[in-house]
Amino acid sequence: MIVCEYRPGLEGIPAAQSSISFVDGQKGLLEYRGIRIEELAEKSTFLETAYLLIWGELPTAEELAAFEDEVRHHRRIKYRIRDMMKSFPESGHPMDALQASAAALGLFYARRDLDNPVYIRDAVVRLLATIPTMVAAFQLMRKGNDPVRPNDDLDYAANFLYMLNEKEPDPLAARIFDVCLILHAEHTMNASTFSARVTASTLTDPYAVVASAVGTLGGPLHGGANEEVIQMLEEIGSVENVRPYIEDKLQQKAKIMGFGHRVYKVKDPRAMILQNLAEKLFAKFGNDKFYDIAQEMERVVEEKLGHKGIYPNVDFYSGLVYRKLGIPTDLFTPIFAIARVAGWLAHWKEQLAENRIFRPTQVYNGRHDIPYTAIDQR
Ligand code: CMC
Repeated sequence: MIVCEYRPGLEGIPAAQSSISFVDGQKGLLEYRGIRIEELAEKSTFLETAYLLIWGELPTAEELAAFEDEVRHHRRIKYRIRDMMKSFPESGHPMDALQASAAALGLFYARRDLDNPVYIRDAVVRLLATIPTMVAAFQLMRKGNDPVRPNDDLDYAANFLYMLNEKEPDPLAARIFDVCLILHAEHTMNASTFSARVTASTLTDPYAVVASAVGTLGGPLHGGANEEVIQMLEEIGSVENVRPYIEDKLQQKAKIMGFGHRVYKVKDPRAMILQNLAEKLFAKFGNDKFYDIAQEMERVVEEKLGHKGIYPNVDFYSGLVYRKLGIPTDLFTPIFAIARVAGWLAHWKEQLAENRIFRPTQVYNGRHDIPYTAIDQR
């Protein structure tokens, strides 16, 4: 047995061998299956990228058309899931609603046929197709409205915005949203992917795999950071307040949301693409004062923390884009989940291909040989 030193957060410790994505944190490089993220963001679509991640190669035109068709025809959610969601408290966080709904899907497909490629493909299609419908349905139902049925004439991104806003989106908005999904689809061994792989390694069903990953993504140090970025920009309120706000936070040794990354020590390449997309949106739909605040924040944080390798991460600009698309702040993380399902499923498949159950060890630092004290003597 190899014994290595304990590292909090398992920093630098490989948890799997993977050919799905690659990050060079010093160069600011991200590849999915060897293809640069910038190229995918420019030329691909989310569903094509999901196919690439999950099956390892770009699909042919026929393969892509068949895949898109399958996803399109599985978008509706079962009425029992919808009824269950209706009974969720409207004050609940949409990530909790999504986690419960994804897990509930497993109740309908209890048979685990993990050696069967048809079972695998069905689960992939069903999860990619229904997660956006669940997110949109919860959003409408918590407002007291009925969910909108998916529109088969619209592609993946446009249909989600349609189900959410009850009207067809502007084509630029839909394309930009699709690119956001590409950017968030996969990112090596992050916390939620690790969680997905640990769950997958027990050979449970893919719905439990996705539900556990959704739960992990929700925290403010992971996917939840994009919501906190918007709250922070609102709290700052003006460009003049940026510097005192940051100085105050740093004095309190608090983290600035949307900055820093375990792997990237330069600006996250996804943040650069998102910043560009935000600018396109502002050019078409009008400027946003929060963008000016964000740019000033980037300048001040770089000045104060650049020497530690702290730069904007993916969450810093994604919130600004979603806000401009009219998406409520507490849906930002569920949208991250819609995209990341592709990565989780790719890791689920990869884990199954060479599975060994995760069972790490620990460094015990507790006591030994303590006598049991009777309750009346404590
Ligand atoms: N603001 C201020 N200081 C920071 C920040 C930040 N956002 N991030 C890291 N640092 C400092 C930290 O204080 C520490 O300084 P020192 O060495 O002097 O004690 C040093 O940088 C290393 O920080 P760490 O917390 O040990 O780094 P980590 O690799 O454990 O954490 C992180 C990475 C992303 C959790 C952290 O940077 C953070 O909390 N950022 C804010 C939350 C955020 O934006 N999260 C989204 C992450 S990207 C998307 C995702 O993975 O979901």
